[in-house]
Amino acid sequence: MDSKKSINRREFITRSAKYSAATMLIGFGASRLMAGMNTAYSAVAIPKTTLNNKLAMPMLGFGTNTLNGDVCVKCVSEAISVGYRLIDTAHIYRNEEFVGQGIKQSGINREDLFITSKLWVDDSGYESSKRAFETSISKLGTNYLDLYLIHRPRGDVKGSWKAMEELYGEGRIKAIGVSNFEPSQLDELMEYATVKPAINQIEAHVFFQQFAAQQYLQNNNIQMQGWSPFAAARNGIFENSVLTEIGRKHNKTIAQVCLRWLHQRGIVVIPRTTKKAHMIENLNIFDFELDASDFQTIAKLDLNTTQFPEWE
Ligand SMILES: NC(=O)c1ccc[n+]([C@@H]2O[C@H](COP(=O)([O-])OP(=O)(O)OC[C@H]3O[C@@H](n4cnc5c(N)ncnc54)[C@H](OP(=O)(O)O)[C@@H]3O)[C@@H](O)[C@H]2O)c1
Repeated sequence: MDSKKSINRREFITRSAKYSAATMLIGFGASRLMAGMNTAYSAVAIPKTTLNNKLAMPMLGFGTNTLNGDVCVKCVSEAISVGYRLIDTAHIYRNEEFVGQGIKQSGINREDLFITSKLWVDDSGYESSKRAFETSISKLGTNYLDLYLIHRPRGDVKGSWKAMEELYGEGRIKAIGVSNFEPSQLDELMEYATVKPAINQIEAHVFFQQFAAQQYLQNNNIQMQGWSPFAAARNGIFENSVLTEIGRKHNKTIAQVCLRWLHQRGIVVIPRTTKKAHMIENLNIFDFELDASDFQTIAKLDLNTTQFPEWE
């Protein structure tokens, strides 16, 4: 565990105070729902991290891969109603219009949200990236993005980055970054970039722990965001006996242990769920702390390889 980035209880309280003005509280409806659950519940504050361009970003958000149609609209609206403010989508999820409808249905003010979308490889290059951005924001029903990422390091990355830098300069994107980039690919991009990437969103969960990748990002002041914090339920994660035992020790679920472990490492997480009870459960990770022995035990689960070989 990196001690600089890990968040101990005192630091968490300090951070919470620091960000109190921007604190996000889970609504009353959620607290009533939680009353029926086996978890002590009070309003949950989602801490924020400050990106290298000074933009504040929630450290926990809602993932939308595979969500589509009415289910997507309902999930996004429900996630916002229980307290999520960061919503992660992408052109390739083919759900931006449904995410947009969910946001509209929630009734939330646009400036209270942090919306991320991603540029797909087919749209790489300067002109195509500009067009793809316009399509994405139009589907989402917004006139700016908080974060726009190059989804994969393929095609004309240099042309795409130039387009994104211009959109950033015009204030149409609040922060720009990448996803699934190896250190060498980021090194290459940073040779010509005039705006440094704020984020690299990469696979990160207990089976692919990514400590070396995180170290590289920390050294370069790029925030790490982890995708598939539950390995998309693969590899028996929700029946894992090691995680069950750690959860029992802290009176928390496996999902909460997985998210808390990433959070204590300083990684922004974006779990996806279709169930309101899971949405609330996944938010409720800021009232306990994993200790060094938990970290040592979880380290043994690392398979040090992707759990999504089909995407390689
Ligand atoms: N940049 C990239 O290349 C990339 C790649 C993949 C993903 N992502 C992003 O990362 C997000 C998250 O990853 P993911 O969608 O692959 O999956 P994930 O969040 O790792 O896992 C989702 C699975 O976990 C289950 N789940 C969620 N909360 C639970 C809980 N509290 N208890 C038990 N089960 C729970 C869900 O089922 P239920 O619906 O039944 O709760 C679902 O089966 C994506 O949605 C997307 O936004 C980005």
